Amino acid sequence: MTTVTKLFDAPEIAERVERIAAEIAGAVSGDPTLVGLLKGSFVFLADLVRALDRIGRQPRIDFLRLSSYGQARESSRNVRLIGDAPSDLQGRHVVVVDDIVDTGRSLQFAKNLVEQAGAAKVWTCALVDKPSRRAVDIKADFVGFTVDDVFVVGYGIDFAEDHRHLPYIGTVE
Ligand code: IMP
Ligand code: MG
Repeated sequence: MTTVTKLFDAPEIAERVERIAAEIAGAVSGDPTLVGLLKGSFVFLADLVRALDRIGRQPRIDFLRLSSYGQARESSRNVRLIGDAPSDLQGRHVVVVDDIVDTGRSLQFAKNLVEQAGAAKVWTCALVDKPSRRAVDIKADFVGFTVDDVFVVGYGIDFAEDHRHLPYIGTVE
C-alpha cells in the first residue's frame, strides 16, 4: 500500500469549500446546476451543495462520467464521455465541478458538452489546481487549492481507485 503524506486537513478543506460556495453565490445569479465529474468530485460536490444551501441557494445536481486514467498517473489525451450526455440543462446556469484541473482537458471537454446541451452560461470549478501542468487554455473560475506538480489523493481523489475515502488530501510518492 502506498504511503500518503497529509497536505490539507479536513478543517482546511471545509474552510475552502465555504469560500468557493460564497464565490459561486456571488458570481452566479439564481440557483445553479452543479455538474460533477465522476468519480473524483463526489465528496467535494456533496460538501459544496450543502455549503450553498447554508447561504440560501438551492442548486440542482447532475453528474458526468469521463474516461479515466485507469491505473496510470497520466491522464489520457483523448477524453471521452462514458454513459449519457447531460440532459435538462437548457437555459440553466451551470457550474462544472471537478476534483482537480491538471492538463485542463477534462474540464474543457465537460464545459463544451454542457454548452452543447443548451446551458445558458457555464462556469468551471476545481478543488485543486495544478497550473504548471496545463496543456489546453482553460482557467477554472473557482479554485480551492493551487499545488505544484504533485500527485494528490483523498477527499474523493484516487490513485488507481485507492484513497478516495480519506477525509483529508495528501500526496503519494
Ligand atoms: P486533466 O484532464 O488532465 O485536467 O485531468 C483531470 C483529471 O485527472 C481529474 O479529474 C482527476 O481525476 C485526474 N487527476 C489529475 N491529477 C490528479 C492527481 O494528482 N491525483 C489523482 N487524480 C488526478
Ligand atoms: Mg477525474
